[in-house]
Amino acid sequence: MPTVPVLTIDGPSGVGKGSVARIVAGKMGWHLLDSGAIYRGFALAAQSRNISFNDEPGLAKLAEKLDLRFESVEGQELLNVYLDGEEVSKELRTEQTAELASQLAVIAPLRAALLKKQQQFEQTPGLVADGRDMGTVVFPDAPYKIYLTASAEERAQRRLKQLQNSTNAGNISQILAEVKKRDERDANRKHSPLTPARDALIIDTTCLTIDEVIARVMALVEV
Ligand code: DC
Repeated sequence: MPTVPVLTIDGPSGVGKGSVARIVAGKMGWHLLDSGAIYRGFALAAQSRNISFNDEPGLAKLAEKLDLRFESVEGQELLNVYLDGEEVSKELRTEQTAELASQLAVIAPLRAALLKKQQQFEQTPGLVADGRDMGTVVFPDAPYKIYLTASAEERAQRRLKQLQNSTNAGNISQILAEVKKRDERDANRKHSPLTPARDALIIDTTCLTIDEVIARVMALVEV
């Protein structure tokens, strides 16, 4: 079986992984996995079913039968997301959902149940996968690995801009506090913490434009 080329892009909240992943996947004609959307979709499913965050077996069971579908829409940047057939694109991208996803993401059996779902995205002609543990846990053998960073202040600004473009905006100090809290939790959890893979190319994007970041990523994959 031919191996599928995979590019992993990991990094903290608001660093711009999603935009970079989408653009690079488009240029390469590869599939895209937004693993954060899977954790967010799962968080919405757990919340709507009133499953307690302490009920690990219940959460793992729900993860196994999670019915989440992504659909690209012509002329639209972000994918539409359907949970059990119902569109949840807007709720999925709020800060509240991100916070719930980060809280649930510490639970090991849940991560294990979502692992296969993510690995199924590995299909020809290639895959760009963004998240926190793409290069370390989900696709450890990927030939191309990137880790994006930026200062928390810069990331909060980017996040604010993104929220203003989509749903209800927040204020900068609140977003900065939330981003820092999520990073702290994501980086210090016991299972699959946010950390660069040993063989990842680390790019500090604080002073780079998105085009400059894309150029560096393309230089890695376009050989
Ligand atoms: O990428 P994002 O902001 O949409 O992710 C939301 C949360 O989901 C993030 O704070 C932690 C969790 N997550 C994770 O634990 N592992 C991933 N690969 C992707 C997201």
